[in-house]
Amino acid sequence: MKGVILAGGLGTRLEPLTRVTNKPLLPIYDRPMIYYPIQCLLNAGIDEILIVTGGEHAGDFLKLLGNGKRLNVKDLHYTYQEGEGGIADALKLAEDFAENGRICVILGDNIIERDICEPVRAFKEQPSGAKLLLKEVPDPQRFGVARIEDGRLIEIIEKPAEPASNLAVTGIYMYDSDVFAIADTLAPSTRGELEITDVNNAYLARGDLTYDILEGWWTDSGTFQSLHKANCLVVAGGANRVSTSATPMAHGAAAGA
Ligand code: DAU
Repeated sequence: MKGVILAGGLGTRLEPLTRVTNKPLLPIYDRPMIYYPIQCLLNAGIDEILIVTGGEHAGDFLKLLGNGKRLNVKDLHYTYQEGEGGIADALKLAEDFAENGRICVILGDNIIERDICEPVRAFKEQPSGAKLLLKEVPDPQRFGVARIEDGRLIEIIEKPAEPASNLAVTGIYMYDSDVFAIADTLAPSTRGELEITDVNNAYLARGDLTYDILEGWWTDSGTFQSLHKANCLVVAGGANRVSTSATPMAHGAAAGA
C-alpha cells in the first residue's frame, strides 16, 4: 500500500505565520509538522509516499525533504494543488501515483502518539472499500463527526453545530482504488470545497466503510490552539517522530517508537 500526505491548502487560519511559509513546514517542537505524518506512514511499513503541496512556498518542501532518503522514505513524490479546492480535490491528484492500488491518506497537520499498524493490517484484509480512524475529542464540532448506533457507523457530519457524538473522524483514511471515481462525482460544498466527508459518506452508502478507534492521543495542528496543543503533547513525550541525522533523537523517551 502506498501513502499520500495532503499538505496543500493555504493555512489561512494560521496567518501571519503562513504568510512566510507553508503550514506543514511550521515547527512542532524541534521538527517540521510534515515529519510526523511521514513517520506515521513509515511506522506502518509504508515507504512510497506522495506529498500534495500547494500555496506559495511549495518549493521549500523539496529543500527540506529532498528525495526522502535521509528520512528513510524509499520513494518520495510531490505534486502541486492549485488553490484550495478541498481535501478531496487534493486527493484527486494522487490518482496516477496510486496505480489502481490501495492508499493510506494522512492530512499534513495530523499528529498521533502511537502507530496505525493494526488498522493498516486490518484494511489489507478487508475485501474492498475504505476505513476511517475515529477518536474521542472534547470539541467534536471542529471536525467530521461520526454518528454510531449499536456499534454501526450511520453517518458522518462535517463540523456539526450539535454533534451526535464526541467521535471525530481523524485525518487518516484508507481507500481502495474506487476513491478517485467517487471523488470525481463530488460537487463543492457550501464553503466551496470538495469534502472528504462526502467521499466517506459515499463509501458508507455502499455499505463499504469500516472504522477503528485510534489508540493514543491524536491532534490536528491547523489552528493556533491546536498548534500549541500539538507542541505540548510532543514535548510531554510520545508521538512518532522521524529520526534523521539532522534531528537526532535527543528529545522524548518514545521518539521514533
Ligand atoms: O483533522 C481532521 C479533520 O480534517 C476531519 O475531522 C474533517 O472531517 C476534515 O474535513 C478536516 O477538517 P479541517 O477543517 O481541519 O481541514 P483543513 O481545511 O484544515 O485541512 C486539513 C489539511 O488538509 C491541511 O492541513 C492540508 C490538507 N488540505 C486541505 C485543503 C482545504 C489540502 O491538501 N488541500 C486543501 O484544499
